[in-house]
Amino acid sequence: MTKPRLPKPGTIEINPSILGADFARLADVLAVIEKAGVKMVHLDIMDGHFVPNITIGPPVVEKLRKHSKLFFDCHLMITDPRKYAPLFIKAGANHITFHIEVEKKPADLIKMLHDKGVTSGLCLNPETPVKTIEKVAHLCDMILVMTVHPGFGGQKFIAAAAKKSRVVRQLVGPDIRVEVDGGIDVKTAPLVVGYGADTLVAGHAIFSKKDHIAAINALRLSSKRAIRNTRS
Ligand code: DX5
Ligand code: ZN
Repeated sequence: MTKPRLPKPGTIEINPSILGADFARLADVLAVIEKAGVKMVHLDIMDGHFVPNITIGPPVVEKLRKHSKLFFDCHLMITDPRKYAPLFIKAGANHITFHIEVEKKPADLIKMLHDKGVTSGLCLNPETPVKTIEKVAHLCDMILVMTVHPGFGGQKFIAAAAKKSRVVRQLVGPDIRVEVDGGIDVKTAPLVVGYGADTLVAGHAIFSKKDHIAAINALRLSSKRAIRNTRS
């Protein structure tokens, strides 16, 4: 199987978060979103330490890999990404995002991830300033801006945190993806795309709707409106 790759910057990608989906039917969920034409899927990994919730580990990622050709974007909300990232890569992750709040030597870890054949990204919690990633952002393939406090799906979008995606876009230029995560829906998507985000994680907005494909298309449409608005 050819290895899925992070889509080149320059397109808006809807990135469904399976945290919002029915965990008893994940293989079916992956098939449906693939049918909707998405290129990637967002896997939220939580350890009960960095965030007050526990989700999935490498064995689940490994099983999902057998059911999907999508690009696996693994968001590690864990206190020890250095220790566990290799296990997720072995299980089939294509991209590893870790939080700047837990890593003292981010450049080192980014290099380790690249050496292991995956793309990598840094994530900023809502209260974490962009200056914490200033020196290493250019080493990443994608920067993730949290627009809710990590840990749970279906939370309210934090507008002040979303504004940081504009600063991140200015920092990294056009060649690195800027991802936003939390509370993204048809109302907030135009806003974040206007700020320069190009990779929109969405859980509740897709999986709380019966028709997941229609929900993905609605998000696509709303983000296109934003591009027109910012250009006009
Ligand atoms: C929250 C996760 C998100 C979450 C987003 O900690 O990182 O990926 O699934 O869910 P919604 O889109 O429902 O806010
Ligand atoms: Zn996430």
